[in-house]
Amino acid sequence: MEKGCYGSPRRQRPLPGSLLLFFLVAMSHSPLPQPATAHRAEALTGRVRVPGDKSISHRSFMFGGLASGETRITGLLEGEDVLRTGEAMKAMGARIERNGAEWVIQGTGNGCLLQPEAPLDFGNAGTGSRLTMGLVGTYDMETTFIGDASLSKRPMARVLDPLREMGVQVLNAASGDRMPLTLRGPKHAAPITYRVPMPSAQVKSAVLLAGLNTPGITTVLEPVMTRDHTEKMLRGFGANLEVETDSTGLRTIRIEGEGKLTGQVIAVPGDPSSAAFPLVAALLVPGSDITIENVLMNPTRTGLILTLQDMGADIELLNPRSAGGEDVADLRVRSSDLRGVSVPPERAPSMIDEYPVLAVAASFAEGTTVMDGLDELRVKESDRLAAVAAGLKANGVECTEGEASLSVIGRPGGKGLGGGSVETHLDHRIAMAFLVMGLASERPVTVDDRAMIATSFPEFMDLMAGLGAVIE
Ligand code: S3P
Repeated sequence: MEKGCYGSPRRQRPLPGSLLLFFLVAMSHSPLPQPATAHRAEALTGRVRVPGDKSISHRSFMFGGLASGETRITGLLEGEDVLRTGEAMKAMGARIERNGAEWVIQGTGNGCLLQPEAPLDFGNAGTGSRLTMGLVGTYDMETTFIGDASLSKRPMARVLDPLREMGVQVLNAASGDRMPLTLRGPKHAAPITYRVPMPSAQVKSAVLLAGLNTPGITTVLEPVMTRDHTEKMLRGFGANLEVETDSTGLRTIRIEGEGKLTGQVIAVPGDPSSAAFPLVAALLVPGSDITIENVLMNPTRTGLILTLQDMGADIELLNPRSAGGEDVADLRVRSSDLRGVSVPPERAPSMIDEYPVLAVAASFAEGTTVMDGLDELRVKESDRLAAVAAGLKANGVECTEGEASLSVIGRPGGKGLGGGSVETHLDHRIAMAFLVMGLASERPVTVDDRAMIATSFPEFMDLMAGLGAVIE
């Protein structure tokens, strides 16, 4: 326990007065679905800020909770998914408090997480659960993971397989390596070299995080680059991590285990995956002119902006700057006549969460938009490919769903579109994408449940109303 334990972990039972818990309880869903309907809007105008990036927010709580000393975070996404990661870190010994606009964490020290006394409940969050499986899997302790109906359907073998190679046992998993499941870590974990079989930042990250508590060098081979927040942030916290990229684009990431991590000061930039919703809404609603401030522009996350620009979108990047090691800019977006394009499949990892709202944009474009390489959409919070195609069809859009592709024939001006009801399947991005559709279609669009929007973008309804949208 002493080897790398620089902090003085003291188990914190989540106190009734805990702010984290208060936020989670305040947000917790009513058991009844809460439908929402978006109506055709007048021009959207204004300046807005979207909440902090979800990927960086999860990692800020995890790495801050693990590092020695204090981590201070501003701009954190206070969405349900991230708060659950905070609760999990608290259950394993980190101290996490909100102090005004800042979240302040006292971490345990690398190697010093404590066995949680109860199952860790990750709600809807694939990122929180998969990364935490990596983080704790190599500890000589038992940890149980549970989640909601959507998360319990998602494949976990992609993370469990490399963990097994490191010596982790998986106990009581639901069929097909799904949650609920329990990990039992080895006395001494074995470092591995692991080639990530699908483009997934979650899998890459889980293996790297398992490497933090493993002696020696853990190596991840990544043939297709995915978001690199884990690599960048772990380096910032002091991990000994190197990345080499060869001429084929193969990235070799090596992390040395059992090193010291030190608390950091983090300013989380706005989430481009959340910015995508007001952005597409402004492109589609005639006469709109909005600015979205302080959006993360990491090149592993900007595929949607490139694609929309290919389609003729008027998106201006203002005041580009570097903040906390990340590129950031303000985005001025004006309504635009879009034309259909073929989206290069190799762009998919940099816009993987943005296909639902891109499909909505494509529904208003002149001509056909073809999207390929969408295999991973099948295993998101819902089968997003099926959910998007069904939602489009319910609202009069001609589209074809392939095994890993979608093609959409647009109707400029949204003539004849809308009037349908969309099943969201516990998926926040399906809900937001189709509410955006309703703002520009001839007839309103209804989604069956708005509740999951709180997982990633609790301010969505208020922010859209502030721009002039009518969603009720
Ligand atoms: C994420 C990685 C992506 C993305 C998810 C966030 C991350 O998932 O869809 O919303 O923070 O690492 P995959 O790794 O499964 O593609």
